[in-house]
Amino acid sequence: MTAIPRREKLAALFRQAVVIPVLTIERLEHAVPLAKALVAGDVRVLEVTLRTPVAVDAAKAIIAEVPDAVVGIGTILNGDDLSRARELGAVFGISPGATPELLQAAAASNLPFAPGVATASELMAALAAGFDLVKFFPAEQAGGIRAIRALAGPFPNARFCPTGGIGEANAASWLAEPNVLCVGGSWLCPPAEIRAGNWAGITAMCERAMKSLKPRDR
Ligand code: 3PG
Repeated sequence: MTAIPRREKLAALFRQAVVIPVLTIERLEHAVPLAKALVAGDVRVLEVTLRTPVAVDAAKAIIAEVPDAVVGIGTILNGDDLSRARELGAVFGISPGATPELLQAAAASNLPFAPGVATASELMAALAAGFDLVKFFPAEQAGGIRAIRALAGPFPNARFCPTGGIGEANAASWLAEPNVLCVGGSWLCPPAEIRAGNWAGITAMCERAMKSLKPRDR
């Protein structure tokens, strides 16, 4: 059997995901109930960001206790973060940026990985390192849909997961772009709802989003 190249694996995962929530977990005890709430709302592909002291333990807990979640690690800033993501059993890694050091480490690793880009030059560096599926960040602030349309001209093979400023109101417009595989964002897990333990509210929000946003062939 031929192994599926990691970039195709990542593309299939992102396409199927439609929406990837960006999780910033402040308290370890929130990790598992939050992941369960998202999965119950049919949102299974999760980005657990390395932004808080409990992030690594939170990701470990979700991987161990929520088998239906597909856990990726976000806010990967360097090769050490990438190694950490691989060691803890993440399915993929994702970064807001693309330094030469990170691109080199990611190219040498077998972890499916999406670097972050906001400009043509950053995209060229990512493509040169072998990454044609990238996070477009910060999507709204870096030019929005008009910017991603403009990038489609010189880079017809690039595929994007836009993140930053995306929410219920504009997710469908982004997903209608042919070079967008999925969208990311924190809007499905608002800090106030997490702090309040409003897991049912988070599930309801996810169900609503997934009903209105369908995966497309692209
Ligand atoms: C990210 O890291 O992808 C962003 O923090 C998500 O942006 P948002 O909070 O505007 O959705």
